[in-house]
Amino acid sequence: MTNLIEPHGSKELKPLIISDKERLREIIEAASLSKRQKLNSSAAANVVMLGAGYFTPLDGFMDKEDALNVALQMQTKEGLFWPVPIINLSTLKSTEFSKGEELVLLDPNYSDERPIAIQTITSVDTLSAHELEVILENVFGTKDSNHPGVKNFINQGSTLIAGPIKVLNYSYFPEEFPNTFDTAMGIRNKLDSLKWRKVVAFQTRNPMHRAHEELCKMALESLNADGVLIHMTLGKLKEGDIPGDVRDAAIRKMVDLYFQPNTALISGFGFDMMYAGPREALLHATFRQNCGCSHLIVGRDHAGVGDYYDPFAAQEIFQKSIVEESLKIQIFAADHTAYSKKLDKVVMMRDVSDHTKDDFVLLSGTKVREMLSNNEDLPPEFARKEVADILKSYYRSK
Ligand code: ADX
Repeated sequence: MTNLIEPHGSKELKPLIISDKERLREIIEAASLSKRQKLNSSAAANVVMLGAGYFTPLDGFMDKEDALNVALQMQTKEGLFWPVPIINLSTLKSTEFSKGEELVLLDPNYSDERPIAIQTITSVDTLSAHELEVILENVFGTKDSNHPGVKNFINQGSTLIAGPIKVLNYSYFPEEFPNTFDTAMGIRNKLDSLKWRKVVAFQTRNPMHRAHEELCKMALESLNADGVLIHMTLGKLKEGDIPGDVRDAAIRKMVDLYFQPNTALISGFGFDMMYAGPREALLHATFRQNCGCSHLIVGRDHAGVGDYYDPFAAQEIFQKSIVEESLKIQIFAADHTAYSKKLDKVVMMRDVSDHTKDDFVLLSGTKVREMLSNNEDLPPEFARKEVADILKSYYRSK
């Protein structure tokens, strides 16, 4: 029905959600006596991504061999390109779980032990300290526990429970973000009804400032794309990042006021940020291909944190041959973008070689937070006033 780009490694999306109500009831009933495992937040978010078709063609949680292969070579033992291990780690001993057993996976986002998926265990393994390091060094580029993604990973435990899953629901995302959370199927359907074919995705975990807005517009224009999918992270973030509902409101306001009608589709997905820089950029691209996007904007320090990654490492990794051979989606590689006082507009720095640092309006994240906390106005060259107002009222209410 559509000419959108094909999903990754498959002709069709492979969502693992059980949408038939009767079947869902039967599955839950059949598992009523099965062992229960409370997931960690990242694994629960992976369940949501698997359910929603974003992680096509995976059928569940990887085993140790796949996790290590993916960390080292970016492919499973069967040769499927995949950039980060998708695993279910537990802090319980491996002897607590047995191969062949059905496991009811509980959603950690609710206190009432609500099931989110059923897993059929195909293997149980323990990650050794060395194997854990191999994963951290290859996926995050560091084993420094001050890195928020590394810290989170280490706390998940070392018992690795592998096997396919059936997803029962999308956790809190549909209820908390009814207008924004969507699945890969939902996005493909929307792109189809909009009759968009060339679609550029913009990944964001932030409210959008002028640089972000112009990045989207530059990409639209230079690719001659039909539209931009503004696709925001709705899952868990690190401390200090703006919560999903505030970000959602700010982005909607900006698109409403400053984008041409029918050029932007706003949507969100339920995944916890890993802050894994280049490897996470590849994951971002993989699941945007699954949404039907032909391009992904990758700018400065994509999915990065602190100084862990070279600002353009997330672009360079797309030049690796395994990536070029495996992914159909392409990137729109953007240089550092900022407002030029000289030219009175947002520019990419590489395009204005005559500028010095003082010719740009540049604010660090810390400075922005400080200004907002003090109820100060952000410069209009940095953020749209209407966006800044939403952020200011959030900071006042904290
Ligand atoms: S991310 O962690 O989700 O990547 P963020 O929301 O800050 O963080 O960035 C979204 C996208 O915009 C990423 O591709 C990032 O590289 C890009 N980006 C953000 N700010 C700039 C900027 N000033 N110049 C160039 N690219 C930028």
